[in-house]
Amino acid sequence: MPPQDKLIIFDTTLRDGEQAPGIALSPDDKLAIATQLARLRVDVIEAGFAASSPGDFESVSRIAKEVTGPVIASLARAMPDDIDRSADALKGADRNRIHVFISTSPIHMEQMMRMTPEEVHQAAIEGVKRAKRYTDDVEFSPQDATRSDIDFVIDVCRDAVKAGATTINIPDTVGYATPDEFVALMQRVYDEVRDGNEDVIISTHCHNDLGLAVANSLSAIRAGARQIEGAINGIGERAGNTSTEEIIMAIRTRQDQFEVEIGADTTQIFDTSRLVSRLTGYPIQFNKAVVGRNAFAHESGIHQHGVLRNRETYEIMDPDAVGHQSMIVLGKHSGRAAFANAIEKMGITLEDVDFQRAFVRFKELADRKGEISEEGLRAIVSEETGVSATELEFVGIHVEGGTDEDPVATIRVKREDAIEEYSASGDGMVNAAFVAFRDAFDLAATLVDYRVSPLTSGADAMAEVNVIVQVGPTTFSGRGVSTDVVEGSARAFIAALNKAAIDRGAVVGDDGT
Ligand code: KIV
Ligand code: ZN
Repeated sequence: MPPQDKLIIFDTTLRDGEQAPGIALSPDDKLAIATQLARLRVDVIEAGFAASSPGDFESVSRIAKEVTGPVIASLARAMPDDIDRSADALKGADRNRIHVFISTSPIHMEQMMRMTPEEVHQAAIEGVKRAKRYTDDVEFSPQDATRSDIDFVIDVCRDAVKAGATTINIPDTVGYATPDEFVALMQRVYDEVRDGNEDVIISTHCHNDLGLAVANSLSAIRAGARQIEGAINGIGERAGNTSTEEIIMAIRTRQDQFEVEIGADTTQIFDTSRLVSRLTGYPIQFNKAVVGRNAFAHESGIHQHGVLRNRETYEIMDPDAVGHQSMIVLGKHSGRAAFANAIEKMGITLEDVDFQRAFVRFKELADRKGEISEEGLRAIVSEETGVSATELEFVGIHVEGGTDEDPVATIRVKREDAIEEYSASGDGMVNAAFVAFRDAFDLAATLVDYRVSPLTSGADAMAEVNVIVQVGPTTFSGRGVSTDVVEGSARAFIAALNKAAIDRGAVVGDDGT
């Protein structure tokens, strides 16, 4: 097959994915995800936007030096400083790419950038030329392309190619396009910008505001696109990005429809998805394609009967192909070795402190619950790892009161070696607990998102609670697991507020909810 028949998988979990509200990945988290993306064998990892913050610079720089295999990319506005910062951060990578972008739609040019089309055109050319001083591999994106004047997009992209861009990426920044319309746009870009030049790759970058990101990206292959940009679990701004794993599995499952090759190791999909969920604090929708808890579950009798006879009656993908392992069930009699073995099989490696913490929590829950499923184990590990930098540790919670009086929550927390107690009343048990934690941290925090998902069924089900709290302009996520929703909520609050207190410094609060 000629090189144009390879489809390049460009993963932007660490850049566009991380732009989703409430996600704040540390450089260590990003390195762990990049290492896993290399195992998944994506072709390009967009490691960050080096000029956007010192943390992003450090992440791009560490990934460039430590992760081998994929091309490592950094995003840059079409501005000299951004491009220079990207080049600096990318030093040490075996292969690197600078991804230069500027908006081309009237609304972005007029309202956001206050630039004329001529100025935008010029900045794009200069940006690409500057990036080209540092690397041969330069990608150019006309942001908000699908709401831009198409002739203008084509002109700017043509000149970007003349200036040295080797990938032209067409973003549907606000997820506005429909598949037919997008194919028509991509066809024009392919014919008029690539124009037979074998050195130029045409790429797509679709957002999911209308739920069409994956469909639009796949349809663009028909028009000659040979790179698709996506994020694991589809995370990203607003409704998110194209989901990388859905693209990979669509291509593998429907080779008859997409005559392109990909190099991904699909068996790494499940672990990659769970790692991203754990580190971002973003839960995975149960019925999410490919990686959702129910993606390979069969409930109705007819379906079960069919699958028992022949898996393919109701399954178009083999769970093994995406690294979905069979259920591991551990109970209260399981020891350290069984626990270590189970988490190792799930692709999780823990430092000693994290292991100890996760094991103690596992025993405590297994005592109450009897059996802990693989989902439960993942949730425990997720809650207990990476939390060594804590201001307060959870000790216990007790709530009094019922429907006819405001409940009062009393929490016990450990600060250094001392146990402290805080009580607060609130509009419901969860609210009372939140107010008590806010007092304990002395943070003016607001609860902006609160979600409970059952991990197992039955009256003694384990539940996972995910929260997002806001302190000033910044949001922090937290996750807690318990058989008791109030305790799970308390654990999620303390995880989020610890991040707020430690990462941002204590913001002394009043009483804002
Ligand atoms: O959505 C978008 O337009 C982007 C660009 C920076 C490529 O993320
Ligand atoms: Zn985007």
